[in-house]
Amino acid sequence: MVRYLSTPSEIEIMLIPSQRNQFDIPENIAYLNCAYMSPLMKKVVEAGKLGVDLKSRPWQLTPADFFTVPDQVRTKSAKLIGAEPADIALIPSVSYGIACATKNLTVEPGQEIICLTDQFPSNIYPWRQMASERGGSVRMISENEARTGNGHTDWTTALLNTICDKTAIVAIPHCHWTNGAIIDLVRVGEKARAHGAALVLDITQSCGALPINVEDVQPDFLICASYKWLLGPYSTGFLYVAPKWQSGRPLEEGWIARKGSEDFRRLVDYQDEYQPGAVRFDMGERSNFHLMPMMDTALAQLLEWGVENIAETLLVKTRYIASKVAPLGLEAPPEDLRAGHFLGLRVAGGIPDGLLPALVEQDIYVSVRGDSIRVTPHLFNTTEDADRLVSALEQNL
Ligand SMILES: Cc1ncc(COP(=O)(O)O)c(C=O)c1O
Repeated sequence: MVRYLSTPSEIEIMLIPSQRNQFDIPENIAYLNCAYMSPLMKKVVEAGKLGVDLKSRPWQLTPADFFTVPDQVRTKSAKLIGAEPADIALIPSVSYGIACATKNLTVEPGQEIICLTDQFPSNIYPWRQMASERGGSVRMISENEARTGNGHTDWTTALLNTICDKTAIVAIPHCHWTNGAIIDLVRVGEKARAHGAALVLDITQSCGALPINVEDVQPDFLICASYKWLLGPYSTGFLYVAPKWQSGRPLEEGWIARKGSEDFRRLVDYQDEYQPGAVRFDMGERSNFHLMPMMDTALAQLLEWGVENIAETLLVKTRYIASKVAPLGLEAPPEDLRAGHFLGLRVAGGIPDGLLPALVEQDIYVSVRGDSIRVTPHLFNTTEDADRLVSALEQNL
């Protein structure tokens, strides 16, 4: 069973059979790289094409088209994380979502913003900027601080040991993007609240493949890009804004976020009031007629499969690969310290430069991030893909 799930224990988990036929992936391609960029399901591509067609015939566009699908995306995104639709804003990127958080949170001189070493840069640069402007500092927890007695990485314990009264903000992921090392967000959230610190989450490398519930974790801001584990298009994502921040300042002052924007004839009756909830944080032109239907279609399929089921199925896949490559000296974090969908394999002596090109030569796709070979399968991967990776690693290491 995957840990740190904040999932009701009575949920019955089902393993999901291969969904490769939903994707356009040639048989010879072993694409084990969802953490880089997911492929699109055929029906997601279709939804995008219909959206492009609609834009090519604007006389068929109605005011409702600006609202209906974005609101569906809001509802489905909310369902994925146990939130209300009104808590969700539609954004283009993690950078945008973190910028919304930095616009509303504060750090005082002498206070700290806590992040993890080698965290993804979109969740580092804005904090460095904020700290340098306002006199605080970014406290990067090092891997050494998180190292356990047997040499593994336990970010949760390190975070619990570091959060203190001078912590203003904890800005972290649910699992590390280089190797999938997991963080117990419920415990970290509790500790942050006990010290009056805000919790900002970038869950791009886990949402859709690792359950999370905002009622348990209680983040202040939570951000997810669509193009990885949400199986959605590039340049889309969502931002969860806790109710207490929903009267904050958005990055943009767009027309559609204002009260009454559904009535196009009256847009010049300028309104001081916003639409309710987190809508004020929406990006400009959020009613993107091809990207929003794509995101909506992908989210519908994720919800139909069920994130708990996806998580368990992907754990079975990564566990299989981890067991096969262990005799080659490739070490994955232990299962209680990694996300089930994510395998970061460390090679004793380092990763040879020629490894990735040699794998690509055999139509096998993984990533190297930091000192890990990052293997991230999804429901389109078969046992044959895994076996091909294992034998290519045998040949090339
Ligand atoms: C953890 C994480 N966050 C964010 C991103 C993307 O950031 P942005 O949406 O700002 O391009 C990535 C991309 O690899 C990522 O791994």
